[in-house]
Amino acid sequence: MTDTANQDRVLIFDTTLRDGEQSPGATMTHDEKLEIAQTLDEMGVDIIEAGFPIASEGDFAAVRAISELVKNAAVCGLSRSSFKDIDRAAEALKPARRPRIHTFISTSPLHMKYKLQMDPEAVIEAIAASVGHARKFTDDVQWSPEDGTRTEHDFLCRAVETAIKAGATTINIPDTVGYTAPNESAEIIRMLKERVPGIDEVTIATHCHNDLGMAVANALAAVEAGARQIECTINGLGERAGNAALEEVVMAMRVRNDILPYRTGIDTTRIMQASRLVSTATGFPVQYNKAIVGKNAFAHESGIHQDGMLKHAGTYEIMRPEDVGLSETSLVMGKHSGRAALRAKLGELGFELGDNQLKDVFVRFKELADRKKEIFEDDLLALMRDTASDAEHDRIQVKRLRVICGTEGPQSAELTLEIDGRETAGEATGDGPVDAAFNAVKALFPHHARLQLYQVHAVTEGTDAQATVSVRMEENGKIVTGQSADTDTVVASTRAYVNALNKLLVRREKSAPESLKDVS
Ligand code: KIV
Ligand code: ZN
Repeated sequence: MTDTANQDRVLIFDTTLRDGEQSPGATMTHDEKLEIAQTLDEMGVDIIEAGFPIASEGDFAAVRAISELVKNAAVCGLSRSSFKDIDRAAEALKPARRPRIHTFISTSPLHMKYKLQMDPEAVIEAIAASVGHARKFTDDVQWSPEDGTRTEHDFLCRAVETAIKAGATTINIPDTVGYTAPNESAEIIRMLKERVPGIDEVTIATHCHNDLGMAVANALAAVEAGARQIECTINGLGERAGNAALEEVVMAMRVRNDILPYRTGIDTTRIMQASRLVSTATGFPVQYNKAIVGKNAFAHESGIHQDGMLKHAGTYEIMRPEDVGLSETSLVMGKHSGRAALRAKLGELGFELGDNQLKDVFVRFKELADRKKEIFEDDLLALMRDTASDAEHDRIQVKRLRVICGTEGPQSAELTLEIDGRETAGEATGDGPVDAAFNAVKALFPHHARLQLYQVHAVTEGTDAQATVSVRMEENGKIVTGQSADTDTVVASTRAYVNALNKLLVRREKSAPESLKDVS
């Protein structure tokens, strides 16, 4: 509810674990979701949308565990308008201190006619019934008209009024397909404020997708028009081109508080940590020039800029790196660095490790330090990304690999895999060493998954640099991304491929019902 004494306070609703996870290939493990939820809670997110409980057993378990874990934020579960969805969300949210049910239904002519195949009157009835039903479980109910920005205004007003009368306490206006523009985004909020009875008693939220690159601008415009909750994700993760990025909306309101005079409860010094955590968990690298959290966001390359910076940082810097939790150094470690130094450095990078985990990472760190003279922050991040793949519990593991390559083909690979605890060896040829290694995996573990993307990045400079490899695979519409890092590119590639296969095996076990696929 909008607090009149707090007119400038904007609530941050993070949907990384729900809308973000719907992004093709961005699946996270249960433990990764808990770690992200914990970070979001600690950094001051007001509402964490933890998942879509009816979508799968995995989603239900994650929402349940996050409800138990989170101390400050409200925990939200998504549901369509059916009572079955709402009951499942309520059940998952039971342990939450502050449970919120978020129920939605499409309201645009296109969605009602083709997707729902319902007439507008039936949609109005469903809104009243679903919100009323959700209120039986909690007094914190959010309602969203899906494809809200393409909904006829008269019908949108009627739908919102119905939801408020039925007991919704937050009305969220989604730009589901990323179609709106800032002036229109603001206009819709103003229109609702003018026309809908009871609107001043609820919080208005904005949920913008980035298909035209305007999600952040649209969200901020909605706030200027009266919205007081922004739905966003870390690194802008989300369906298709993603959602409004949390770090961007928060820093925009902070840096330009003169013209965007709003406050959030976010501790901005935790932003980099959250960004790295989400990138590591999903295997989605952050683009180098991404605002706020990109590798180059605070880097000054040109001589003119460097000269200006030396004279006064404000010449080319509108915010300080430390405001978003970026430390100055990229401290180098080497093979003589000890466990305590590694723990401290990883802590600075946002990874708090238990003793057992540290032991494993330390072994890998030493192996790397034997092969590579200097270890940079980026090497440690690659190492953590690799360790996050939970190899110990993986059904398929790479044991040994030998490749023969060079100017005389065909290139060949001899590979030993451990599959469900049993070692099996074989060899294959291919068009290059990576192709040969992938063919060897396929020979030992036959499957029909299709390779959609194969990407290699050198983590640092020099010929001894680690390569991080991302492999995206698709099977029956399910997409996963595998990752690995190694100073040997073929080893990293084979491990990344096997990592993707392991994720597919997990996805096979946790298949979502067909009917849920169109939720955005
Ligand atoms: O984009 C969208 O419409 C959504 C709703 C479920 C809120 O994510
Ligand atoms: Zn969405």
